[in-house]
Amino acid sequence: MLRLTFVLFLFSLLLTSHAGVLAQSRARQERTQTVRPAPPIPRLVSENGNHTLLVDGQPFLILGAQMWNSSGWPGILDKTWPQLRELNCNTLEVPIYWEQIEPQPGQYDFSILDKLILDARRENLRLVLLWFASFKNGQSQFVPAWVKENTQEYPRMLDGTGRPIQVLSTLSEKNRNADARAFAAVMAHIRRLDEPYRTVIMMQPENEPGSLGTDRDYSPAATKLFNDQVPASLVSALKKQPGTWAQVFGPEAAEAFSAYHMASYINYIAEAGKKEYPLPMYVNAWIRENRFGRAGEHPSGGPTSNMLDIYKAAGPGIDLLAVDIYHRNYMQFRALCEKYGRPDNALFIPETGRGIPFARFHFYAIGDYNAIGVAPYGIDPFHADPHDKRDKEKLDTKFAGIAANYRLLRPAIPLITSLQKAGKLKAAAEEDGLGDELLHFSQYDLLLTYGFPTYREGKEMTGRVLVGETGPDEFVLIGFDTKFQFRPRLGSGFSSAEFISVEEGTFENGTWKKIRNWNGDEVYHSTLTPEGVILKVKLRGLQSDKLDTKPNFER
Ligand code: DGJ
Repeated sequence: MLRLTFVLFLFSLLLTSHAGVLAQSRARQERTQTVRPAPPIPRLVSENGNHTLLVDGQPFLILGAQMWNSSGWPGILDKTWPQLRELNCNTLEVPIYWEQIEPQPGQYDFSILDKLILDARRENLRLVLLWFASFKNGQSQFVPAWVKENTQEYPRMLDGTGRPIQVLSTLSEKNRNADARAFAAVMAHIRRLDEPYRTVIMMQPENEPGSLGTDRDYSPAATKLFNDQVPASLVSALKKQPGTWAQVFGPEAAEAFSAYHMASYINYIAEAGKKEYPLPMYVNAWIRENRFGRAGEHPSGGPTSNMLDIYKAAGPGIDLLAVDIYHRNYMQFRALCEKYGRPDNALFIPETGRGIPFARFHFYAIGDYNAIGVAPYGIDPFHADPHDKRDKEKLDTKFAGIAANYRLLRPAIPLITSLQKAGKLKAAAEEDGLGDELLHFSQYDLLLTYGFPTYREGKEMTGRVLVGETGPDEFVLIGFDTKFQFRPRLGSGFSSAEFISVEEGTFENGTWKKIRNWNGDEVYHSTLTPEGVILKVKLRGLQSDKLDTKPNFER
């Protein structure tokens, strides 16, 4: 028995190293064969407070999916690609691990990263890589063993009782430099392998950083700094009066102190990476809005909504602060979009829940808050959550709504991003007890009525629509399960509107491909179907003595 186990062990070692060697030789081949000119590097641009992510020089919208925490390994990824195809996503967010990439100080193993990039490229997917390193969900579980085991060299934070916790100290240059050195090596490697392809479009250094369990580091060195003056650069960036942390930030002093040092720490790492390969970089937040909002109950020092200005001041190398939203209530979801989508911060939601509510919520993020991307968390079929009974369900029940969104939206990305840029896109969706919604545009009002064929209390809420105002009398509607009716705005001199044309179609390489004209019954009922549809609508205002009181559909 022992001998058999040993043989199996040797065999699995052989297989693993074989896969690594294969990936490395594929990577070497790709590098030497490559003479193609590199497309422009991905970057974020902002105009009039609206943000666009450019990939290959073109506006891009991340219709993404994120893997589970321990799934950035070939054994899991290989089983996940077919599921990603079904989801129609254009981007995969995958963790890459410091502990895996630098198993011994200064010795790097990029074989798994190479395979990931080459496989994603084969699948025609872009990658956002999540650097699980010093910080992951307010702890430091993903640092290499040689960091974990040597707390003298790589010190931890102390909590209020003076006990060390499993969170690296942000004040230690040793910690920061070790992480930055590894991250820089990763970025240099990605550049060597991927520059001509730009498979990797964005990096997330760290994950939901902060300290869980304490509002700040209580080590003597940290306490001394905490009782000192707030750095002048921060005070002036925030337009505050000088003073100690407690004087400047009052009850939020400990959290502000932690955020400043965390933002500076991650900024250093991001800058070190950008020196090698300047991809856009973002940091994601474990939000404070789901509990009492007390720092330490959520990781203290992360880019929570009350700390965004500190991150902007202390982290100029961080291109945006992203928000992970699992709230299943649309008002809370919208409130968070409102907080993170700012003129100085592009909205990106790298993690959301799955299922129908989030299929609607993605529309809000894209249509009303100009998100540069969204992604449900937990796409891979094999993961470690023992409570998740949905595990056994098929993709179509868990992710159906999101897969349908992506199928519909993906070809329309050039139009959607141009409407976002022009500030001409809106979203609306069915919510509990919300069966109708009136949207206002420059010349017309649009009444949306959810449900197919009619709105019913208690049924699954699938009605959702993006509405783009493409011209004074022209609209594009992209959505599901929604009836629509236009009226000229009050005071326009017109009392009703007639359809000049309603075209159903899609886009191929950014060009409109008409499938058919809608007329007769289709226009009479004016309903976006459950499968989802894109319509281009041309209208004309009508002057009439009497008011048009009859809707163009019956409920
Ligand atoms: C948020 C984290 O950022 C993810 O890595 C993952 O742990 C999810 N929570 C799990 O729900």
